[in-house]
Amino acid sequence: MDLKQEPSPLTRRQFVTSSAAALATAGLVHNANAAMRMERPWEQNTVETRLGRGPFRVIIDTDPGVDDAFALLLAMRSPELKIEAITPVAGNVPLDLTLPNALRLVEIAGRTDIPVAPGARAPLVRRLVTASYVHGENGLGGAVFPEPTTKPVATPAAEMIRAIVRKYPGEVTLIPIGPLTNIATALNSDPELASMVRGLVMMGGSLSGGNITPAAEFNVYVDPEAARIVFQSGIPITMVGLDVTRKTALTDEHVRTLQSAQNPASQAAAKIGRKAIDHNRERGYLAGTNMHDSLAVASFLDPAIVKLQDFYVDVETMGELTAGETLGYSPVAGELRRRPEMEKEAAASMQIRGSAPTLATTKTSPVLRDKWVPNAKVAVEVDSARFFDLLIGRLAGTK
Ligand code: BDR
Ligand code: CA
Repeated sequence: MDLKQEPSPLTRRQFVTSSAAALATAGLVHNANAAMRMERPWEQNTVETRLGRGPFRVIIDTDPGVDDAFALLLAMRSPELKIEAITPVAGNVPLDLTLPNALRLVEIAGRTDIPVAPGARAPLVRRLVTASYVHGENGLGGAVFPEPTTKPVATPAAEMIRAIVRKYPGEVTLIPIGPLTNIATALNSDPELASMVRGLVMMGGSLSGGNITPAAEFNVYVDPEAARIVFQSGIPITMVGLDVTRKTALTDEHVRTLQSAQNPASQAAAKIGRKAIDHNRERGYLAGTNMHDSLAVASFLDPAIVKLQDFYVDVETMGELTAGETLGYSPVAGELRRRPEMEKEAAASMQIRGSAPTLATTKTSPVLRDKWVPNAKVAVEVDSARFFDLLIGRLAGTK
């Protein structure tokens, strides 16, 4: 298997050289000092973070994607994270574009030490739906960057995820910011895997209406069956959905700040952000594009950015109008909250149905549940100012 083990430790000099190559590739101005500041903490013992002692092993599963690009750059410039792999998947655009886009971004960030493993070309059982009307034909809002020279690893994404999680049981957090096909494929391939995952922080879903349909958020809509496998896996899940990501519009001022910072990541982000804002404006939107995916990464880096609430979340896979809808039930609502012991009892005795039985059959819904026990922490509020401070600050190199 072509799983890269520990990324071969670069000396500081090699790191600066690779950063310089990235700058040249991107055709951008090189600021050697900025590159020098970008530490590789896992080579230097540990780093204190808001989450405790890091860095933390993560895998980023992504479909770049305008907002994926920002999220990846943020992650790659965050010393709290040890990115074990980036696993592109088909979503916003087909895999033939998301894969090279991910490679472009690791080059721009000077992080070609991170393995990029090719993921699924299509959802588990459905035809691919893309969002090129939002992300442009090339997935990066029409912002053009050179062809990447870095190659993906030969190991497919799902296998890569499985191998990394098994190598570091209990240590790896998955950060999916696209359709959940790769993650579900990995979980399907190995029944013990879910119990070895430290956590999963996803951008996806919504408890307050969709964006691709009235009911569904894009990532879950594209592969609802995969999302359902993930929600039912038992992995501790943090769902950063449209309920909060709708409040993260990129502004002209953000782009100006990025432009004025002389490092390749901020310059690339400014270029993509400019295109995305103009695209929105041409279509009559007042606000800039939302930084959905960066919010998932940022909320892992700084949990104070979002407020979380326990929910039982399930995914509608059958509905004609509602496929991909994430339904949430919170035990915080209602009388049962007052007496937790009663809540447990009631949950055990209640026969909860997915839907009322029809006259045509005596069979009940296949969505019968024993009880609706919370399986996810859902982000219900966001401190947008704090989020943008982190996102723009990290990309500009000031934070
Ligand atoms: C999600 O869908 C995609 O278009 C974005 O990249 C984000 O992951 C938002 O619904
Ligand atoms: Ca995405």
